[in-house]
Amino acid sequence: MDGKVYEVPSEWASRAFVDAAGYKRLYQASVADPAAFWAEHGRRIHWFTPYAKVKNTSFAPGAVSIRWYEDGTTNVAYNCIDRHLDTRAGQVAIIWEGDDPSEAKHITYQELHDEVCRLANVLRNRGVEKGDRVTIYMPMIPEAAYAMLACARLGAVHSVVFGGFSPDSLAGRIEDCGSKMIITADEGLRGGRKVPLKANVDAAIERLGGGGVEHVVVVRRTGAEVAMDPVRDVYYHDAREMVTAECPCEEMNAEDPLFILYTSGSTGKPKGVLHTTGGYLVYTAMTHQYVFDYHDGDIYWCTADVGWVTGHSYILYGPLANGATTLMFEGVPNYPTNSRFWEVIDKHKVNTFYTAPTAIRALMQAGEGPVKATSRASLRLLGSVGEPINPEAWEWYHRVVGDARCPIVDTWWQTETGGILITPLPGAIPQKPGSATLPFFGIKPEVVDAEGKVLDGAAEGNLVLADSWPGQMRTVYGDHQRFMDTYFSAYPNKYFTGDGCRRDADGYYWITGRVDDVINVSGHRMGTAEVESALVAHAKVSEAAVVGYPHDIKGQGIYAYVTLMADEQPSEELRKELAAWVRREIGPIAQPDLIQFAPSLPKTRSGKIMRRILRKIAEDEFGNLGDTSTLADPGVVSDLIDNRQNKQ
Ligand code: WTA
Repeated sequence: MDGKVYEVPSEWASRAFVDAAGYKRLYQASVADPAAFWAEHGRRIHWFTPYAKVKNTSFAPGAVSIRWYEDGTTNVAYNCIDRHLDTRAGQVAIIWEGDDPSEAKHITYQELHDEVCRLANVLRNRGVEKGDRVTIYMPMIPEAAYAMLACARLGAVHSVVFGGFSPDSLAGRIEDCGSKMIITADEGLRGGRKVPLKANVDAAIERLGGGGVEHVVVVRRTGAEVAMDPVRDVYYHDAREMVTAECPCEEMNAEDPLFILYTSGSTGKPKGVLHTTGGYLVYTAMTHQYVFDYHDGDIYWCTADVGWVTGHSYILYGPLANGATTLMFEGVPNYPTNSRFWEVIDKHKVNTFYTAPTAIRALMQAGEGPVKATSRASLRLLGSVGEPINPEAWEWYHRVVGDARCPIVDTWWQTETGGILITPLPGAIPQKPGSATLPFFGIKPEVVDAEGKVLDGAAEGNLVLADSWPGQMRTVYGDHQRFMDTYFSAYPNKYFTGDGCRRDADGYYWITGRVDDVINVSGHRMGTAEVESALVAHAKVSEAAVVGYPHDIKGQGIYAYVTLMADEQPSEELRKELAAWVRREIGPIAQPDLIQFAPSLPKTRSGKIMRRILRKIAEDEFGNLGDTSTLADPGVVSDLIDNRQNKQ
């Protein structure tokens, strides 16, 4: 039932940092005495003042508090750059591959140092100080990395907003954390198409009525004419000329904030997930080294965007803390052709490739030809992240992309966890396609039932974590109560992940997907409540309910049930108008795939929408609607079934 097992190749067992016996030994040590384990591994980064206290964490109801290395001081930019200059100033830190295949750059650690210092000086000259929040709304260009590291250098807290978000979404994120500084570009470039980033920033600031934004630094990417406010806005290439390439690192406490990253939950507005300095860097560096078995000289490529947590932890912070060479890609998998990923691998001799199942499924549809046209001889290891990978896609990735010689690390984690929590280690853990396998060091997963009873052995239920790890988020920015309510109230003394999972007889974890009202569209998290509130903001909509449904490429698609105002008529045109509306309100990733006009929605007698039924209809499971007798008007259901929208 659990399918095939892929054993660890023998050359991997001997090459890797950790083999099967090593994994057992280290894992046991890590959970038997977490403080001792993390005291030792915390020393992998440089501390200005070494820590004496290691772990001070509590998941207790009403008193959740998470502190690691709390009396140590360090700086993330120092660890990602300056610390390497003695030994690897001339080594390439970042390989940048442009959207256009003729564009690439190689940035050495020395150049990275100089560029980050310059950008930090530009920020400092504009009043940015330790603790200030800076919003970064950038395409995938090296300056995005410089901007994040410049903030870290100054002790400012960055909030990166994905370039695909709308002015409204951007405005909400600027306002929530009160940033006075925005770093952006004239335009982004993806798949040959331009993204009007600066115009979006202007629109966002206008929506905030100025909103306290004092400075906008604009990097020139496409050279497009953009409006520049003479007081507020400055071109980076002009400001850069006025500053030096030296800027001291601020001494930061381990628990000082490093960044805020907004993510969708089951209710309300996106939450500002707050990560801090010391524990986050220890955890991302350590997981990057062991999960990807990163050795000096390897070329490592994670295809995420820096607007998501995967980009933060595994394009930037983890790899650079390890002195790695990390590849940053501006483009998309199918531009100019479906061979692009594989051509980039050949061009830069990539050894480790880390991407999302949605990209694999999309490329799988294009057939083997575009893959087989390339060599991929440099590849040693493949990785997957962001959503469950179906066994068919896993097998294809393994056989076609990896020529059946590269192990696959299917890494389960979340924005909230900072780094990878459940994953194979390539030299230690046999893989089963579709399973994220076993916990990383220090991670204590448990499977619980709805009542919170901890289930032993082979079991299915909800996934919780029984203890803290250094990379864990510390709070929701500005709202610690929301942090406790969201993650620690369902199961007292445990962190609730929001994911369902099954543990098999070998102790392997199989993540089955979200059990809350979060959906995972092309590996991007979306709250159904956010899409609903965008829909009801439209003048013609009276009510909306949004659920996920299985989608061949995206993993999940967005299915919206919409009830119109009394005098409005359903039409194809209105369907398109509503889809475009959501796209404009939130961003393209939130656009519903299917919209069904429903005269009314199934509700209980107390007026609560029964989403369970809507989900079943969207999933085509009419025979399995469960108990509908509590509905105020059971007739609603047959109308919904008759008018269900066809898939893809
Ligand atoms: C899902 C992305 C199955 C899961 C790093 C989680 C996965 C959510 C996997 C977090 C995986 C991520 N297998 N599901 N390997 N990786 N997920 O915050 O539902 O964007 O809760 O973090 O993605 O998404 P987020």
